[in-house]
Amino acid sequence: MNRITTLYSSTIGKKFIAAVTGLILFGFLVGHVAGNLKVFTGSTEAGVPHVDEYGHFLRIVGEPFLPKMAALWIARIVLLASVALHIVVVVQLAFRNLEARPVGYVRSKKSASTLAALWMMFSGSLIAFFIVFHLLHFTLGALPIGEFQHGAIYKNIYSSFQNPLISLFYVVVMGVLGFHLYHGVWSLFQTLGIDNPDRNKSLRMFAIIATIGIVVGFSLVPLSFMTGMMPEPIAYDPALLSH
Ligand code: HEM
Repeated sequence: MNRITTLYSSTIGKKFIAAVTGLILFGFLVGHVAGNLKVFTGSTEAGVPHVDEYGHFLRIVGEPFLPKMAALWIARIVLLASVALHIVVVVQLAFRNLEARPVGYVRSKKSASTLAALWMMFSGSLIAFFIVFHLLHFTLGALPIGEFQHGAIYKNIYSSFQNPLISLFYVVVMGVLGFHLYHGVWSLFQTLGIDNPDRNKSLRMFAIIATIGIVVGFSLVPLSFMTGMMPEPIAYDPALLSH
């Protein structure tokens, strides 16, 4: 226990926690974007959109060994804990940085890193706001945006993204998320000590490609629904999902 508290209170320990939780969240985003792209793969023969089937699969995965929704709740708890820890340690690190900053004449390199830290704080806060908005929107259906029916993912997405303001809000947030991820992935390599002058070019390339993949993958969804490129949802019997 003592070792854990020592690690947690040290700067390097906090950076490590920020990196590991960031990696978990990054992994979630890769899975989420892949799941979202199922809106483009059509429906089953019985007319159930593949994206709805996938959402249903996530709710029942682990059955019969685990009760329905158990695996999903475990994932949700890990995600929530990661978001909370990520925010707590980065805010603590930012305060430590401010305290350690020499007062007076500061060279421009220092102000560049301060600007990057400020940007990460600003973009991180916007992403935190977005997550609350997004859960109220698509998971709970608690916002007055389009129609909402639990489990009818394609229909919910179709209905919400008919509103260009909502679609553009999602696209703008995805842009901000992209810059946050790029900087975050790069810092992660440094914290985990993977960076090295021989590899840095490829690592930067990896950070850029992974970020662009995520931003473009996410943004394609609101953009294609908003521009009328996607077929209207077709009603199907929800019992088709209850196997
Ligand atoms: C255009 C971008 C996005 C779209 C269209 C989208 C769509 C959705 C939809 C439809 C759901 C509900 C799925 C269901 O009912 O099972 C959902 C859930 C969720 N999304 Fe997104 N999402 C987007 C981006 C993001 C981003 C960037 C994040 C995180 C920063 C995120 C985090 C979540 C979370 C945490 C859930 C709840 C998962 C659960 O606990 O069931 N989403 N998203």
